[in-house]
Amino acid sequence: MALTDFDLVLFGGGGDLSMRKLIPAMYARDRAGDLPPTAQIICIGRQSWTDAEFVTALNENARPHINEKVFAQASWDTFCARVRYVSLDATDATTYQPLNDVLRNDAALTRVFYLATPPTLFAQICHNLSERGLATENSRVVLEKPLGRDLASAKQINLEVGQVFKESQIFRIDHYLGKEAVQNLLALRFGNVLFEPLWRREWISDVQITIAEEIGVGNRMGYYETSGALRDMMQNHLLQLLCIVAMEPPLSVTPDAVRDEKLKVLRSLKPFTATALAKNIVRGQYRAGHVEGKAVPAYRQEKNADPDSNTETFVAVKAEIDTWRWAGVPFYLRTGKRMADQLAEIVVRFKAIPHSIFAQSTSSFQPNCLVIRLQPDDGLQLNLMAKTPGDGMRLKPVELELDFAETFKAPRMDAYERLLLDVLRGQLTLFMRSDELEAAWEWVEPVLRHWEQEGNEPLPYASGTWGPAAASALIGRDGLQWREEALPE
Ligand code: BG6
Repeated sequence: MALTDFDLVLFGGGGDLSMRKLIPAMYARDRAGDLPPTAQIICIGRQSWTDAEFVTALNENARPHINEKVFAQASWDTFCARVRYVSLDATDATTYQPLNDVLRNDAALTRVFYLATPPTLFAQICHNLSERGLATENSRVVLEKPLGRDLASAKQINLEVGQVFKESQIFRIDHYLGKEAVQNLLALRFGNVLFEPLWRREWISDVQITIAEEIGVGNRMGYYETSGALRDMMQNHLLQLLCIVAMEPPLSVTPDAVRDEKLKVLRSLKPFTATALAKNIVRGQYRAGHVEGKAVPAYRQEKNADPDSNTETFVAVKAEIDTWRWAGVPFYLRTGKRMADQLAEIVVRFKAIPHSIFAQSTSSFQPNCLVIRLQPDDGLQLNLMAKTPGDGMRLKPVELELDFAETFKAPRMDAYERLLLDVLRGQLTLFMRSDELEAAWEWVEPVLRHWEQEGNEPLPYASGTWGPAAASALIGRDGLQWREEALPE
């Protein structure tokens, strides 16, 4: 569907997210011919730069993040000519006049305000836009995570942003929902008849969802110290993945049909009891170690770090969903920085065969397992048992592999490209609704309070490992292993 002409306003336009992700994503779409010729991208910042000076900043900070296969100088120059830079103080409505001046006043245009700023500014910016008459009927607002730092602040954001924009104008972004593999999971579950009958407690023993990163906190210490892995990854990305795995078939892929089902999952998550808080969560922080053969410092020794910081860089949780479909099936979620590998995957393990008709004992049969790989490349793997060739009847585990890049030779889109197009088209399915956001915070809230009260010091783990030993023990208590630990060396 062709895009109608638009003005896209990026608050935090000179910031890290804008330079690393948003500008490269918009450039890629421009290069692909998706942007109307007169569409404008208006970057907002405090520095008093001219448009030309801002283009220099784009060349320095955004250009290195553009895929070389996509880049061409002429199209980059055309793209940069669309970009306007406006200097203002986002917290002060009296400084907004230069923004009024560059925005086009045409009801047929789509106007998007993308708030790539700390969440503490969301309400203020929306009120300022309203005060200056900029938040029109055809405007949309995009809120970048973190959407608050607990339930109360998330509710406050929803309330105040909701005073300016209708729910249908609010796009709460979680870039994991823009990843191809996540949408492929919807296709797998609801475009095939094979899996859905088995997608339940009768046949599934457990589900593991892992987002492991090799990178450390980098130059984001200021933000990360206010966040930690639970707020940065678990409350949003991991819970969104869990929702897509666990939700009931939606009536359609319309926004509310999908979001209603995700909300039901979030509301069915078993609340943490005192015992669960003590037993079902592991909190860790990386120490020095080696990643990809290179020595890396401890979190507390990173640039601008507090040497006594208790911020967690790893978290693992055992979650349960109280529904007929999922009662008794553990969902193990984990994420960490400076881990042994860079990967994101969902592992659905099926139950063991009930009885062996072969000479082999049932324990020698590896349960079937479906691995949905999000990163580094997206694909599917199905583990089965098969007979080894030759005499006798000896079964061994084998793998069916599907690599989406191989299968579909079509060029890939980055998650932000996909989601920005959806915003510009007004398509809300892959964005969180206010009640979903609050339900997710409601579930993690007791954990935050528990850590605050206990002064819970994170467990150390060496960089380049799979996290604290307690994370293996968490799943080991149920007689299971994380997939990487179960794989042969
Ligand atoms: C972001 C987090 O939301 O997701 C980062 O703030 C994290 O800390 C990033 O590194 C991971 O995203 P991806 O797409 O690189 O897996």
